[in-house]
Amino acid sequence: MLSQKKARITRMKIKKLISKRKINKRIRTIARQINRDYAGQELLLVCILKGGVFYACELAKHINVPVEIDFMKVSSYGRGTTSKGSIDIEQDLSTSIENKNVLIVEDIIDTGITLSSLVPILKEHGPASVSITTLLDKPSRRKENVDVDYVGFTIDDYFVVGFGLDYDQKYRELDYVGVVEK
Ligand code: IMP
Ligand code: MG
Repeated sequence: MLSQKKARITRMKIKKLISKRKINKRIRTIARQINRDYAGQELLLVCILKGGVFYACELAKHINVPVEIDFMKVSSYGRGTTSKGSIDIEQDLSTSIENKNVLIVEDIIDTGITLSSLVPILKEHGPASVSITTLLDKPSRRKENVDVDYVGFTIDDYFVVGFGLDYDQKYRELDYVGVVEK
C-alpha cells in the first residue's frame, strides 16, 4: 500500500474575546454611521490585504451608498517613523482614487506605523477624502498617531486572531476574535 505523508497539524488553543454575534452587530452599527456620513455620495473601500478582507466584505453588505472595492497589500518595517519609507507597497490599487471618497478598511491598528505612512501616500493621488475604519484598535501599542474615523472594538494589548487576523497566516477564517493561548 502506498504510504502518504501527512502534514503535521498543530492547533493552538484560542480563547474567545469577541463573539460572532457582537462583531456582526457592531459592523451593522458602523455601516449605518457610514450610510449617514456619505449619504448622497459614492465610496471606495480600500481593503488592506489580507486581514481587512473579512471585515470589508461584511461591512460592504450593509452599506447602502454606491460602493467600489479595491485592495492593497502593504508591509511595515516596524520602524517608528512617519516617513512614507516605513512601508512597502507589495500590491497597489487597480483603480484611480482621484476625486473619490476613500475609506481604508483595516483589520487592526497596532503601532499605527502602517496607516500613518499609507494615508499621505494615498493623499498624493488627489482623493476627495480619506477616512479610516478598523475592526480592532490597540491604542496602548501606538507609536504613531492615526485619526481613525470608525472603530469596531478597542482592545487591550492581546495578540488576537480570527475575522481576518492571523497567527502565522492561520486562523483568519474564524468567525469570532480570539486570543492565542501560548
Ligand atoms: P501597525 O498598526 O502598523 O503596527 O500594523 C498593524 C498590522 O499588524 C495589522 O494590519 C496586522 O496585520 C498586524 N497585527 C497587529 N496586531 C495584531 C494582532 O493582534 N493579531 C494579528 N495581527 C496583528
Ligand atoms: Mg494587516
